[in-house]
Amino acid sequence: MRRLLVTGGAGFIGANFVRTALRDPSVAVTVLDKFTYAADPASLDGLDPARLTVVTGDVADGPLVDDLVARHDAVVHFAAESHNDNSLADPEPFIRTNIEGTFRVLEAVRRHGTRYHHISTDEVYGDLPLDDGSRFTEASPYRPSSPYSATKAGSDMLVRAWVRSFGIRATISNCSNNYGPYQHVEKFIPRQITNVIDGVAPKVYGSGTNVRDWIHVDDHNAAVWEILERGRIGETYFIGADTQRDNLTVVQILLEIMGLPKDAYEHVTDRPGHDLRYAIDATKLRAEIGWCPRYPDFHRGLENTVQWYVDNESWWRGRKAKTEARYQEIGR
Ligand code: NAD
Ligand code: TYD
Repeated sequence: MRRLLVTGGAGFIGANFVRTALRDPSVAVTVLDKFTYAADPASLDGLDPARLTVVTGDVADGPLVDDLVARHDAVVHFAAESHNDNSLADPEPFIRTNIEGTFRVLEAVRRHGTRYHHISTDEVYGDLPLDDGSRFTEASPYRPSSPYSATKAGSDMLVRAWVRSFGIRATISNCSNNYGPYQHVEKFIPRQITNVIDGVAPKVYGSGTNVRDWIHVDDHNAAVWEILERGRIGETYFIGADTQRDNLTVVQILLEIMGLPKDAYEHVTDRPGHDLRYAIDATKLRAEIGWCPRYPDFHRGLENTVQWYVDNESWWRGRKAKTEARYQEIGR
């Protein structure tokens, strides 16, 4: 049995990863999750209890992390405070979880010689001009804009230093914006889908011309799995599916799928420091690891995601009102 420790495994991407990993009968997973507002135990419902252990705890709790890491063959570190808007309202938990939490996991990995994969984001590279066609590569300079991306950048730097100075067996992946099932309703796509279900107009920050490079969460996780198996130690891999869309276009596709006029959205106050465009060049991952996206059809992916939120209202309903109340406080 291969024993994986998955931090943040009750969050959006982590829970989808655990679901995929447990399809392999030779894998057992321990989830370490603090169960912040972003987690939901129901995201792990229906999985084989003989191969899934869920531990409630903080990645910044050194002794707990050390004990867990000692008993596993590999660690995939998803746990993070992950929402830019929250990081602008209160950066403190981002420092503790994303930087100190990663430090604690790295120290445990160093002591026990455990294989480590670090989940990161393209946002550590800052943003790109809207119209010049450029994309981030693994050689792009770090240039984070928000407290969220700065703390993720800090955590990436720690991993790089622990590889070079202490020889830990680590890989890093930086992925673009994910969408799919089990994503918290604070994030762009689920927020708009659930707004439309509730008869509320989708909320577009500023002009809506900002561009994100979208990828289905299962494509992200398939790449993570491949990197864990076959990635070169010390290397960084970019994960992206060549799906750049501006926010207005995404909202208009969602409105069309949900049977409403394309202009049934509203503009709200822009996010301070709002990154203009992200775009990933995943050539290295494709060439070296042989990964390619299995869900490249964005329209189809959004249709499936809309259907998932329609079919799983009981999963998200309990968080919706509180999330919208928080947005109302900040005028978005
Ligand atoms: P999420 O907010 O949905 O989930 C984060 C999980 O981490 C939650 O279950 C939460 O309870 C847990 N957590 C938070 N603080 C913790 C702590 N101190 N100790 C233990 N657990 C803690 O986030 P997500 O969207 O699933 O993102 C997962 C990872 O992927 C993050 O590292 C994020 O930076 C990265 N990432 C996300 C995206 C995206 O589009 N969502 C893109 C690229 C990279
Ligand atoms: P988000 O899902 O917060 O991801 P990130 O900030 O990591 O890219 O937002 C995606 C894009 O959508 C970003 O440009 C901000 C924008 N956005 C809106 O226009 N309206 C919204 O209600 C939200 C939550 C985001």
